[in-house]
Amino acid sequence: MLRMQVPLPDRYLRARPDDLESWIAAAKATLGERLLILGHHYQRDEVMRWADARGDSFRLSQLAAANTAAEYVVFCGVHFMAESADILTAAHQQVVLPDLNAGCSMADMADLDSVEEAWEALEAVIDIERLVPITYMNSSAALKAFVGRAGGSVCTSTNARAVLEWALGRGDKVLFFPDQHLGRNTGLAMGYDHADMALWNPRRDLGGLSDAECKSATFLLWKGHCSVHQRFTPEQVAAFRASHPDGIVLAHPETPYEVCALADAVGSTDAIIRAVEAAPPGSTIGVATEIHLVQRLAAEHPDRTVVSLDPIVCPCSTMFRIDAAHLAWILEGLVGGEVRNRITVDADTARWAKVALERMLSIV
Ligand code: 13P
Ligand code: SF4
Repeated sequence: MLRMQVPLPDRYLRARPDDLESWIAAAKATLGERLLILGHHYQRDEVMRWADARGDSFRLSQLAAANTAAEYVVFCGVHFMAESADILTAAHQQVVLPDLNAGCSMADMADLDSVEEAWEALEAVIDIERLVPITYMNSSAALKAFVGRAGGSVCTSTNARAVLEWALGRGDKVLFFPDQHLGRNTGLAMGYDHADMALWNPRRDLGGLSDAECKSATFLLWKGHCSVHQRFTPEQVAAFRASHPDGIVLAHPETPYEVCALADAVGSTDAIIRAVEAAPPGSTIGVATEIHLVQRLAAEHPDRTVVSLDPIVCPCSTMFRIDAAHLAWILEGLVGGEVRNRITVDADTARWAKVALERMLSIV
């Protein structure tokens, strides 16, 4: 979803990198403890260097929920993460996203209307009381509220397995949206088979499935994906292994299962960082995730060779929208008493989304 980001004033557009650096440093020093800058691992280095804390989406939610001191939380990440931070922070705290166009194409693949339509269609075919809706963190607050109301939970790539186990302890099947790959990879890791899963296409009647398929599937997987992670292929893993027979392959679970099946480890961005840290010096590591994280890992571990498995590296174009110019514009606004790009969620949506987010935080 495209939001209305106003163009930056010339002062920021024309600034030299050195100027932006000194403006950010000065504003950050002035705001002191009133400011908390959170940075997702896919952020550019020119932004990440200013983050008070870095993390994957699960860790950043924990940090947002735990911090009650900062008046302003500047979220260097994407829109759904900032919305979640607004829901999890206290009423006196304001969450800001430096560029309102930093959305997520995967999150936009499921909207409230189509999920409600799916729910109603399924209600006519299966016992809806036994269906548990699970939304990936990468979704709007409206969808998080939907799962909160319907007895489901949010999950991230860190705790997807624990959340799905929890869901299947209270129902017979799950409707998992919007990322089919995280749902499929997690289900397979739990010991389920492809035959236990059905792909729900929101553009087709009853998701393009028969009544029998809806009844028999344990996992109804929404037909959504991440355009960055879907690029990785088994051929890339084969090429890496041919060049580096002792190499280590790490994949984010938004990557297709054909790639995850060939990986040495599959995990969230935090888990990928830990796996690189744990690898012996001298190792060569091929990673299937966003390029800014891969490049940062390579720079921070000069005694290991860390490369992307995709030779035509593709950054997350929405994470990339956050740059030093937007950060400087936001921070100088705060110093001047102007809160730009505040992210807010209406009270009723926030109430139910919080139920689903708190379930997520409690299931690890
Ligand atoms: P993490 O939960 O690993 O931070 O992933 C978030 C994301 O958007 C990956 O594409
Ligand atoms: Fe969304 Fe993919 Fe970017 Fe993550 S990497 S924010 S899932 S588009």
